[in-house]
Amino acid sequence: MKIITFAAIKGGVGKTTLAFNYAEWLAANDNNVLLLDLDHQCNLSQIYNHYDTDGTVGNIFLGNGDVKIHSIKQNISLIVGDMHLDDIETDIENKTNKNMLLYMWLSDNYEKLHIADYDYIIIDTHPDFATATKNAVIISNTILSPITPSEHGYSAKFNLEERINELSKEAIDFSTRKSYVTAKLFFLANMVRHNTKSSHELLEVIKDDDRVLAKIPEKELFNRSTLDKMSLSTMTDDHKIYIKQSKFFDEINQIFSDINQKI
Ligand SMILES: Nc1ncnc2c1ncn2[C@@H]1O[C@H](COP(=O)(O)OP(=O)(O)OP(=O)(O)O)[C@@H](O)[C@H]1O
Ligand SMILES: [Mg+2]
Repeated sequence: MKIITFAAIKGGVGKTTLAFNYAEWLAANDNNVLLLDLDHQCNLSQIYNHYDTDGTVGNIFLGNGDVKIHSIKQNISLIVGDMHLDDIETDIENKTNKNMLLYMWLSDNYEKLHIADYDYIIIDTHPDFATATKNAVIISNTILSPITPSEHGYSAKFNLEERINELSKEAIDFSTRKSYVTAKLFFLANMVRHNTKSSHELLEVIKDDDRVLAKIPEKELFNRSTLDKMSLSTMTDDHKIYIKQSKFFDEINQIFSDINQKI
């Protein structure tokens, strides 16, 4: 099983859109995927029309009540986000094990919730590096961080890297001194355009960085996918939609396949 977190300090860079579409692409390629919505904006849960107030990720961090795994469709399950997760983070601020709660929940419930049945756990996070995001980083094998063609997007790259390094020093097993942080950090250049100065500048800076796994074009269909709650993979199944934009759909299929190979 592989655990992948979409994280970025900056908001609106495409974490949710890419987490959703990549998860759906994995599912369409015969992988059983569990989605975890760790953003109190709950955008990922909303895409699947889930607005629950109990059995959410909040219960993981509060350590009370049962967490519900919703079976959404073939190969996609979801643990719904909690709109009060930010308050919960504040409440648990003084707990010494606050960054390890997801790790402990996962190991405590591994058998009971049949976690081993999932090929991937995909986690969406809030644009920050607060407690929930740190918990996600600690259990992850891979962090995928979208960066966009803006100056801030690019400096956020270093910001996230530094925060993960700090966490890595902090989250250690005190007897062995080994860090719980083992995730590899990769970047996805997102919303890249052909004809803008900022896109060219971004492409120039990242061209020799092999941790940038993909260049994902800016395309209205990404926006449509979350608004219409229909992933690009599902759109592709409809021949009429596919044929109109086959070049784009083929490109995205190739991009997701490349990402999957490299991580
Ligand atoms: N490649 C793309 N092409 C066009 N639009 C995109 C692309 N990626 C994301 N978007 C759009 O950009 C907006 C922000 O995306 P999204 O909500 O996924 O970002 P986010 O990082 O999850 O934001 P937040 O930090 O608020 O959680 C959305 O309207 C989304 O549809
Ligand atoms: Mg989001």
